[in-house]
Amino acid sequence: MSVIYDPVHWTPHKNVYDKILLAFVGLYLVLFGALEAILHPQVTAETLVIRATGTLAFLMLHIILCIGPLCRLDKRFLPLLYNRRHLGVTMFLIGLTHGVFNIVQFHTQGNVDPLVSLFVSNTHYGSLVRFPFQSLGFFALIILFLMAATSHDFWLKNLTPPAWKVLHMGVYAAYAMIVMHVMLGVIQLEKSPVLIGLTGLGMFSVIGLHVVAAWKQMKKDQAARPSGVHCPISNIPQGFVYACEVADIPDNRAKMLIIHSENIALFKYGNKLSAVHNLCKHQNGPLSEGKIIDGCITCPWHGYQYRPEDGQSPPPFKEMVCTYDVMVEGTKVYVNPQPYPEGTARPPATIHSSWKSLEVISQ
Ligand code: HEM
Ligand code: FES
Repeated sequence: MSVIYDPVHWTPHKNVYDKILLAFVGLYLVLFGALEAILHPQVTAETLVIRATGTLAFLMLHIILCIGPLCRLDKRFLPLLYNRRHLGVTMFLIGLTHGVFNIVQFHTQGNVDPLVSLFVSNTHYGSLVRFPFQSLGFFALIILFLMAATSHDFWLKNLTPPAWKVLHMGVYAAYAMIVMHVMLGVIQLEKSPVLIGLTGLGMFSVIGLHVVAAWKQMKKDQAARPSGVHCPISNIPQGFVYACEVADIPDNRAKMLIIHSENIALFKYGNKLSAVHNLCKHQNGPLSEGKIIDGCITCPWHGYQYRPEDGQSPPPFKEMVCTYDVMVEGTKVYVNPQPYPEGTARPPATIHSSWKSLEVISQ
């Protein structure tokens, strides 16, 4: 993205996370294998692989789904977000191993094509309890494949961010199918209900974290709505809305504002103030939670950068966000929520030096 594009910046960390990820996968498989060997010494190697990979992929899917809300609740989880794609692709490969071993184990012995056998060996499609659970695993795997195959930023750009986002929201459909796959599998194969209990616990964590994060976001959005609509002071031009006090924004940081449904990030840097659209062009990351690094607004999620004065990414990058007019009157900051087209240069508002010193005294 820029000279300090975060993915580059983060590379050494990414390598560490990848190693931790592989160590976690290896450790899980070894521990699961050892436990199964003790508890069920009669299981074959194929069944062991099927169980170890199925449960591992399912566990990893839970972790992936929890990372988003955890980052919203506490910024210390952000490094996990940088590495989520590798986690997702690894999870897909492990799920694929589970699927392939199952197809080989259960659907290659007869004279019907294995993929046809997967769908016709159980035809209780009209029954809730006897529904062919393996087909649910298959369709979930297709979604996970599409997500893994398009996980690179090349696809994000080519599919356009909104389409990419819709495709990747498919993870929730995949999750729902896998939950049903596991529950029905346990019921139909008369296996231990422990798996149902663990699945319930996993669902509770995923749903609970999403609800708490959404509630926190709602509170943030409420706090971001300035109380005044149009400015009561006559010398403030029509359209400007009181946003906050100059001192409310820390240096090189932003305040999020929602004015007339416009989601705005109002940045203070040195004695200047500029406003840009709050959502990053990459994956809608909240720019107002980022900071100014080397003169550029830096997205907290993956490090995309934008110049505060014109909302443009520094060359050679081409991403752009909308800009807004800002003005300062004494200690008060006003923003006009009418957006300018993406990448339009707008002069930053200047904080008068006497008010700056007043601000320092009051801190
Ligand atoms: C083509 C796709 C799939 C097929 C044919 C398939 C088939 C099966 C079968 C036959 C079982 C019962 C195994 C047993 O007797 O123990 C099973 C269990 C399970 N599957 Fe799948 N599955 C598929 C995809 C997935 C995916 C994508 C996930 C998770 C990401 C998954 C997670 C699980 C889990 C957690 C279990 C329970 C643990 C176990 O007993 O193995 N499956 N699957
Ligand atoms: S850099 Fe990825 S969302 Fe902003």
